Amino acid sequence: KHKVIIDTDPGIDDAMAIAYAIAHPDIDLIALTTIFGNVSVSEATENALALLDCFGHECDVAQGQTRPLVMEPRPHSYFVHGRNGLGNVEVPKSANSAVSQSAAEYLVQKTREMPGEIDICAIGPLTNLARALDIDPTIASRVKSVSIMGGAVYIPGNVSPVAEANIWNDPHAAEKVFAASWPVVLSPLDVTTKVVLSPHFFADLEDANPKVGKLLSDMARFYARFYRSHSGLNGCIPHDVMALAYLTIPGVYKQKRGAIAAATDGPGIGQTIFNPTGKPTVDPSWQQRPQHTALLDIDVRFFAAHYFDTIA
Ligand code: BDR
Ligand code: CA
Repeated sequence: KHKVIIDTDPGIDDAMAIAYAIAHPDIDLIALTTIFGNVSVSEATENALALLDCFGHECDVAQGQTRPLVMEPRPHSYFVHGRNGLGNVEVPKSANSAVSQSAAEYLVQKTREMPGEIDICAIGPLTNLARALDIDPTIASRVKSVSIMGGAVYIPGNVSPVAEANIWNDPHAAEKVFAASWPVVLSPLDVTTKVVLSPHFFADLEDANPKVGKLLSDMARFYARFYRSHSGLNGCIPHDVMALAYLTIPGVYKQKRGAIAAATDGPGIGQTIFNPTGKPTVDPSWQQRPQHTALLDIDVRFFAAHYFDTIA
């Protein structure tokens, strides 16, 4: 079983990813760490605790950073995810609370307790991961993998011509995470935007699982309204699920090895830049960067059926 900590800013697609992690038999979800992004970090923590109750899973929640490493915070994405981050679907407030450690301290401690065993799946801005590297740079050698939803490699961004929201919300943190020697797997918009889950899909999911399926379907309705008005899509893109599903069904993705960097200023701020392994550069710094993996395509039909079956 994959021992997974999800770093998250729930978020409708975050909720879809958390539900997947809990439902999948090969994943042992050991904690959620929270981050600002779609909502504030305190809202993210409240949502994380409430979603665990709704999905019937007990695990630690550790609250993360309130703001980016260097920059002023960007506005939250209430227009995409609703005023409560969950498509304005009312979920009962949890009676549980977060552990006393910060998310970064929690990541450092857990990877000390279980060296080489933990997959971190980061589906929000990367500030907590960067803070963990600050506290203890050797964390990089203790994680099994770092699967990240973020960036846009060969296609335009979703918040600027070149930037994707998670990276743009804290580009300095992203750059620190990409420059570290841990096994990063990036799920950029190149792969995530291939998948659009239709209202029909969610109606069937609701029939198949009247509890979890209904909750996801209710949230998806709000999310799909954003996608319809913004991009004319009939359905919604479950970005964050793709980073989780890489752990369980890696074979359905097209992958490419290479160095990844994030632009930290200027008009390209938040852009992810990719240099495939072996491609010569005149700038020597690119040859010294760690080699990671970028996911660039996916078997859409397989993925959608697999997501359906896992939740159903
Ligand atoms: C990413 O940004 C957030 O709005 C989503 O939850 C996802 O993590 C997509 O760009
Ligand atoms: Ca997210």
